[in-house]
Amino acid sequence: MVDNYGVEAAPFSWYLKVAAEADVQPTLEQLTDHMNDQQRAAFRDKLQRYVRKPDRELIVAVHGGQTLGLVCVIEQAQFPPRFPEQKASHLRNFACGTQLLVHPSFRKQGVGGSLLVRAQRWAHEQGLTGFWIVTHRQANWYKTHFGYHKIYRIDDKGVEKTLLAKSFE
Ligand SMILES: CC(C)(COP(=O)(O)OP(=O)(O)OC[C@H]1O[C@@H](n2cnc3c(N)ncnc32)[C@H](O)[C@@H]1OP(=O)(O)O)[C@@H](O)C(=O)NCCC(=O)NCCS
Repeated sequence: MVDNYGVEAAPFSWYLKVAAEADVQPTLEQLTDHMNDQQRAAFRDKLQRYVRKPDRELIVAVHGGQTLGLVCVIEQAQFPPRFPEQKASHLRNFACGTQLLVHPSFRKQGVGGSLLVRAQRWAHEQGLTGFWIVTHRQANWYKTHFGYHKIYRIDDKGVEKTLLAKSFE
Protein backbone atom coordinates (compact mmCIF):
# COMPACT_ATOMS: atom_id res chain seq x y z
CA MET A 1 0.00 0.00 0.00
CA VAL A 2 1.38 3.41 -0.85
CA ASP A 3 1.51 6.35 1.46
CA ASN A 4 -1.49 8.53 0.65
CA TYR A 5 -0.81 10.88 3.57
CA GLY A 6 -3.81 10.07 5.66
CA VAL A 7 -6.63 10.71 3.24
CA GLU A 8 -9.31 8.08 2.69
CA ALA A 9 -8.30 4.80 1.05
CA ALA A 10 -7.60 5.07 -2.67
CA PRO A 11 -10.00 3.21 -4.98
CA PHE A 12 -7.12 1.49 -6.77
CA SER A 13 -3.54 0.70 -6.01
CA TRP A 14 -0.38 1.74 -7.77
CA TYR A 15 3.27 1.35 -6.99
CA LEU A 16 6.19 3.71 -7.12
CA LYS A 17 9.50 2.87 -8.65
CA VAL A 18 12.81 4.47 -9.39
CA ALA A 19 12.78 4.71 -13.16
CA ALA A 20 15.44 3.16 -15.36
CA GLU A 21 16.33 3.98 -18.95
CA ALA A 22 13.60 1.62 -20.23
CA ASP A 23 10.91 3.59 -18.37
CA VAL A 24 11.60 6.87 -20.14
CA GLN A 25 9.81 6.10 -23.41
CA PRO A 26 6.56 4.76 -21.84
CA THR A 27 6.58 7.73 -19.47
CA LEU A 28 6.84 10.11 -22.40
CA GLU A 29 4.10 8.30 -24.33
CA GLN A 30 1.67 8.34 -21.44
CA LEU A 31 2.27 11.70 -19.83
CA THR A 32 3.14 14.24 -22.52
CA ASP A 33 -0.07 14.65 -24.52
CA HIS A 34 -0.11 18.33 -23.59
CA MET A 35 3.37 18.97 -25.03
CA ASN A 36 4.44 19.86 -28.56
CA ASP A 37 7.29 18.00 -30.29
CA GLN A 38 9.94 20.45 -29.17
CA GLN A 39 8.79 20.34 -25.55
CA ARG A 40 8.62 16.54 -25.66
CA ALA A 41 12.19 16.29 -26.98
CA ALA A 42 13.47 18.57 -24.22
CA PHE A 43 11.52 16.57 -21.66
CA ARG A 44 13.01 13.30 -22.98
CA ASP A 45 16.52 14.73 -22.55
CA LYS A 46 15.71 15.79 -19.05
CA LEU A 47 14.27 12.41 -18.03
CA GLN A 48 17.28 10.64 -19.50
CA ARG A 49 19.60 12.79 -17.41
CA TYR A 50 17.53 11.94 -14.34
CA VAL A 51 17.84 8.18 -14.86
CA ARG A 52 21.56 8.31 -15.75
CA LYS A 53 23.14 10.63 -13.21
CA PRO A 54 23.77 9.59 -9.61
CA ASP A 55 22.84 12.90 -7.96
CA ARG A 56 19.22 12.71 -9.07
CA GLU A 57 16.32 10.37 -9.54
CA LEU A 58 13.19 9.93 -11.63
CA ILE A 59 10.35 8.28 -9.74
CA VAL A 60 7.25 7.02 -11.51
CA ALA A 61 3.86 5.78 -10.33
CA VAL A 62 2.64 2.70 -12.20
CA HIS A 63 -0.70 0.92 -12.37
CA GLY A 64 -1.41 -2.06 -14.64
CA GLY A 65 1.48 -1.29 -16.96
CA GLN A 66 0.51 2.36 -17.26
CA THR A 67 2.61 5.25 -15.97
CA LEU A 68 0.27 7.46 -13.96
CA GLY A 69 2.69 10.12 -12.84
CA LEU A 70 6.26 11.14 -12.24
CA VAL A 71 8.51 13.34 -10.18
CA CYS A 72 12.16 14.33 -10.59
CA VAL A 73 14.38 14.99 -7.60
CA ILE A 74 17.93 16.38 -7.58
CA GLU A 75 20.44 17.01 -4.82
CA GLN A 76 21.45 20.51 -5.92
CA ALA A 77 19.45 22.65 -8.32
CA GLN A 78 20.00 26.18 -9.51
CA PHE A 79 18.00 28.78 -7.65
CA PRO A 80 15.90 31.23 -9.64
CA PRO A 81 17.54 34.44 -10.90
CA ARG A 82 17.91 37.14 -8.23
CA PHE A 83 17.15 34.67 -5.44
CA PRO A 84 18.45 36.36 -2.26
CA GLU A 85 21.75 34.95 -1.00
CA GLN A 86 20.45 34.68 2.56
CA LYS A 87 17.57 32.45 1.46
CA ALA A 88 19.90 30.42 -0.79
CA SER A 89 22.24 29.69 2.09
CA HIS A 90 19.27 28.47 4.15
CA LEU A 91 18.35 26.00 1.37
CA ARG A 92 21.92 24.99 0.50
CA ASN A 93 21.54 21.44 1.82
CA PHE A 94 18.01 20.92 0.50
CA ALA A 95 17.05 18.70 -2.45
CA CYS A 96 14.85 20.09 -5.20
CA GLY A 97 11.78 18.43 -6.71
CA THR A 98 10.66 19.23 -10.25
CA GLN A 99 8.20 18.04 -12.91
CA LEU A 100 5.71 16.55 -10.46
CA LEU A 101 2.95 15.48 -12.82
CA VAL A 102 -0.01 13.10 -12.64
CA HIS A 103 -2.08 12.09 -15.66
CA PRO A 104 -5.34 14.11 -15.57
CA SER A 105 -7.43 10.91 -15.40
CA PHE A 106 -5.73 9.80 -12.20
CA ARG A 107 -5.60 12.97 -10.14
CA LYS A 108 -7.14 13.51 -6.68
CA GLN A 109 -6.56 9.92 -5.60
CA GLY A 110 -3.27 10.34 -3.76
CA VAL A 111 -0.85 9.56 -6.61
CA GLY A 112 0.79 13.01 -6.60
CA GLY A 113 1.14 13.00 -2.84
CA SER A 114 2.73 9.58 -2.84
CA LEU A 115 5.27 10.69 -5.47
CA LEU A 116 6.17 13.77 -3.48
CA VAL A 117 6.55 11.78 -0.25
CA ARG A 118 8.77 9.26 -2.04
CA ALA A 119 10.96 12.02 -3.50
CA GLN A 120 11.32 13.60 -0.07
CA ARG A 121 12.32 10.21 1.34
CA TRP A 122 15.06 9.88 -1.28
CA ALA A 123 16.37 13.32 -0.31
CA HIS A 124 16.35 12.37 3.36
CA GLU A 125 18.21 9.15 2.58
CA GLN A 126 20.91 11.19 0.80
CA GLY A 127 21.51 13.06 4.06
CA LEU A 128 19.89 16.24 2.78
CA THR A 129 18.02 18.33 5.30
CA GLY A 130 14.99 19.56 3.40
CA PHE A 131 13.20 19.94 0.11
CA TRP A 132 12.24 22.85 -2.12
CA ILE A 133 10.05 23.21 -5.17
CA VAL A 134 8.75 25.93 -7.47
CA THR A 135 5.10 25.95 -8.43
CA HIS A 136 2.75 28.09 -10.45
CA ARG A 137 -0.65 26.92 -9.15
CA GLN A 138 -0.17 24.33 -6.42
CA ALA A 139 1.31 26.31 -3.52
CA ASN A 140 -1.67 25.64 -1.26
CA TRP A 141 -1.51 21.89 -1.92
CA TYR A 142 2.12 21.82 -0.75
CA LYS A 143 1.31 23.98 2.26
CA THR A 144 -1.86 22.24 3.38
CA HIS A 145 -0.88 18.60 2.98
CA PHE A 146 2.90 18.59 3.29
CA GLY A 147 3.91 21.44 5.57
CA TYR A 148 5.73 23.60 3.03
CA HIS A 149 6.32 27.30 3.61
CA LYS A 150 6.35 30.01 1.00
CA ILE A 151 9.88 31.34 0.68
CA TYR A 152 9.95 33.53 -2.40
CA ARG A 153 7.71 34.88 -5.12
CA ILE A 154 9.11 34.58 -8.65
CA ASP A 155 8.11 36.60 -11.68
CA ASP A 156 8.90 34.20 -14.54
CA LYS A 157 8.37 36.37 -17.65
CA GLY A 158 5.11 37.65 -16.26
CA VAL A 159 3.99 34.31 -14.77
CA GLU A 160 3.85 34.38 -10.99
CA LYS A 161 5.40 31.33 -9.33
CA THR A 162 6.18 30.49 -5.74
CA LEU A 163 9.24 28.82 -4.28
CA LEU A 164 8.26 26.73 -1.27
CA ALA A 165 10.44 24.72 1.06
CA LYS A 166 10.30 22.48 4.07
CA SER A 167 12.94 21.29 6.48
CA PHE A 168 13.02 17.65 7.54
CA GLU A 169 14.04 18.63 11.07
C1 LIG B 1 -0.36 18.79 -8.57
C2 LIG B 1 -0.64 17.34 -8.96
C3 LIG B 1 0.72 16.64 -9.20
C4 LIG B 1 -1.35 16.63 -7.81
O1 LIG B 1 -1.51 15.27 -8.16
P1 LIG B 1 -2.71 14.41 -7.53
O2 LIG B 1 -2.43 12.99 -7.84
O3 LIG B 1 -4.01 14.96 -7.93
O4 LIG B 1 -2.45 14.70 -5.99
P2 LIG B 1 -3.21 14.07 -4.74
O5 LIG B 1 -4.28 13.16 -5.23
O6 LIG B 1 -2.17 13.50 -3.86
O7 LIG B 1 -3.84 15.37 -4.06
C5 LIG B 1 -4.77 16.17 -4.77
C6 LIG B 1 -6.06 16.29 -3.95
O8 LIG B 1 -6.72 15.03 -3.90
C7 LIG B 1 -6.99 14.72 -2.53
N1 LIG B 1 -6.90 13.25 -2.37
C8 LIG B 1 -5.77 12.52 -2.29
N2 LIG B 1 -6.08 11.21 -2.16
C9 LIG B 1 -7.43 11.13 -2.19
C10 LIG B 1 -8.35 10.06 -2.10
N3 LIG B 1 -7.94 8.79 -1.97
N4 LIG B 1 -9.67 10.34 -2.16
C11 LIG B 1 -10.09 11.60 -2.29
N5 LIG B 1 -9.26 12.68 -2.39
C12 LIG B 1 -7.94 12.44 -2.34
C13 LIG B 1 -5.93 15.45 -1.74
O9 LIG B 1 -6.37 15.66 -0.41
C14 LIG B 1 -5.85 16.74 -2.53
O10 LIG B 1 -6.95 17.57 -2.18
P3 LIG B 1 -6.96 19.16 -2.46
O11 LIG B 1 -7.08 19.34 -3.96
O12 LIG B 1 -8.21 19.60 -1.75
O13 LIG B 1 -5.71 19.74 -1.89
C15 LIG B 1 -1.53 17.25 -10.22
O14 LIG B 1 -2.69 18.04 -10.00
C16 LIG B 1 -0.87 17.67 -11.50
O15 LIG B 1 -0.20 16.87 -12.16
N6 LIG B 1 -1.04 18.97 -11.88
C17 LIG B 1 -0.44 19.50 -13.10
C18 LIG B 1 1.04 19.68 -12.94
C19 LIG B 1 1.38 20.49 -11.70
O16 LIG B 1 0.79 21.51 -11.41
N7 LIG B 1 2.41 20.00 -10.99
C20 LIG B 1 2.94 20.64 -9.82
C21 LIG B 1 4.12 21.40 -10.24
S1 LIG B 1 5.03 21.97 -8.84
